Amino acid sequence: MNEVIKNILERRSCRIFKEEKIEKELLKEIVKAGAFAPSAMNQQPWHFTVISNKDLLDQLSFDAKEIVKTHDLEYLRNYANNEKFHIFYNAPTIILVSHKEDAYEPKVDCAAATENILLAAQSLGIGSCWVEFVSYLFEKETPIAKKYMEKLGIPDGYKAIHAVALGYSKLETIPTPKHKENTINFVD
Ligand SMILES: Cc1cc2nc3c(=O)[nH]c(=O)nc-3n(C[C@H](O)[C@H](O)[C@H](O)COP(=O)(O)O)c2cc1C
Repeated sequence: MNEVIKNILERRSCRIFKEEKIEKELLKEIVKAGAFAPSAMNQQPWHFTVISNKDLLDQLSFDAKEIVKTHDLEYLRNYANNEKFHIFYNAPTIILVSHKEDAYEPKVDCAAATENILLAAQSLGIGSCWVEFVSYLFEKETPIAKKYMEKLGIPDGYKAIHAVALGYSKLETIPTPKHKENTINFVD
């Protein structure tokens, strides 16, 4: 099978990571793949923050969970109230993806960038998980959101919406989730 398609089909969300750090050169390649995604009108309305500081990652997880504890959705509250749940699954690094709010299609563009990051990581033998949970921390203009925006160097006018947890998988293989049938038709 073509290597690119194989890479796409074999990517799975990884939620159990080794402590082993990812080399900076590899992180640079991965984040560059994100920045080479297509974007509406070529606006490239994204900013990437690569975070490998364990204390900071733990704090981000803790603070996001605190906010989600009062969420309307029970299943989200259950995650937030689970003391053992770490929103980044204790991954050694995350890439936080922020979108420029006044761009044309910033959410779509940043989703494309996020998928590029996942696939680049997969091609390098690095596990990844898309983590939207972090977005609750930045959803509203609260003092804590502002504190993190400053600390993380997220530019004015941008808002963090996605993160990708990255690290070496502890599992040799990750089970493939069931894929829906009847989602494709051909019209010739
Ligand atoms: C927009 C989006 C948000 C997601 N947010 C989370 C998340 O917060 N936490 C998590 O563990 N997985 C998250 N995922 C990963 C999905 O759960 C996962 O992709 C899906 O179950 C399919 O599994 P696969 O990635 O192994 O194919 C997210 C995926 C997408 C596309």
